[in-house]
Amino acid sequence: MKIGIIGAGPIGTTLARRLAATGHEVTIANSRGPKTINDTALGTGARAVEADAVIDGVDVVIVSVPFNRVPDVAALVRAAPDTAVVIDTSNYVPVRDGHIEAVDAGQAESLWVSERYGRPVIKAWNAITSTSFDHHATDAGSPDRLAIPVAGDDQDGKRLAMTLVEETGFDAFDSGPLSESWRQQPGTPAYCTDRTAAELPAALGRADASRSARRRDLAIAVLTERAEVEGTPSAEYLLNLTRAIY
Ligand SMILES: NC(=O)c1ccc[n+]([C@@H]2O[C@H](COP(=O)([O-])OP(=O)(O)OC[C@H]3O[C@@H](n4cnc5c(N)ncnc54)[C@H](OP(=O)(O)O)[C@@H]3O)[C@@H](O)[C@H]2O)c1
Repeated sequence: MKIGIIGAGPIGTTLARRLAATGHEVTIANSRGPKTINDTALGTGARAVEADAVIDGVDVVIVSVPFNRVPDVAALVRAAPDTAVVIDTSNYVPVRDGHIEAVDAGQAESLWVSERYGRPVIKAWNAITSTSFDHHATDAGSPDRLAIPVAGDDQDGKRLAMTLVEETGFDAFDSGPLSESWRQQPGTPAYCTDRTAAELPAALGRADASRSARRRDLAIAVLTERAEVEGTPSAEYLLNLTRAIY
């Protein structure tokens, strides 16, 4: 399968490495050009290309850019083949992204993204930290394998995205339509809390739309304060914090 990845941060590069290792033809682009993408982060297989080449003839586009950059890549995503499945990994964090009125008012992030791209998206790989994604991949059937929720309205696209999630080393869990994808957004019990497939349904079910934005902002405030004192908090600290607050 031909896969184009837009965004070469920790999630995009780990996706490129894993998906190329399973035999897919993977290209990846950022906004500054292929020379600025670290080859070591990609490993063997994936190819860094110019942004306008990353959607050429692809079966799948994975967009992994900051939420406030979604409008900047919209024209590129719209130019992908009509048959391409578009998967989005983004999360809205207002202290970083600025405020977006519709999402602050309760629109699911993935629906807002979908509107920008003018096509359905599948939401996947958003609810796992880059550290867990990088370090906790395991083979299918491994005990305590972590799970990743996958939301979407296009059932064929969702099935394909779930297969790719499995190939990246995690159980894929169908978390329902995009209208329910707020249950895997920042501030919810399923978000960056390292759940197994057995644990995810209860975590998604406990999500409280009236509290998740406040809990997201509380967690960010604690992390920011901690970082001022000790530098970037450890992955263990982050996991304990999200499990306690969300
Ligand atoms: N980090 C995590 O733990 C994590 C976990 C799950 C989901 N997410 C979400 O996944 C997304 C990516 O996060 P990340 O931490 O991996 O990456 P990031 O550090 O946010 O990096 C963003 C990437 O997007 C690229 N980008 C920005 N504007 C672009 C444009 N107009 N055209 C092409 N590329 C563009 C940047 O390239 P340039 O530098 O060249 O502009 C950079 O490679 C975010 O929405 C984030 O919230 C993050």
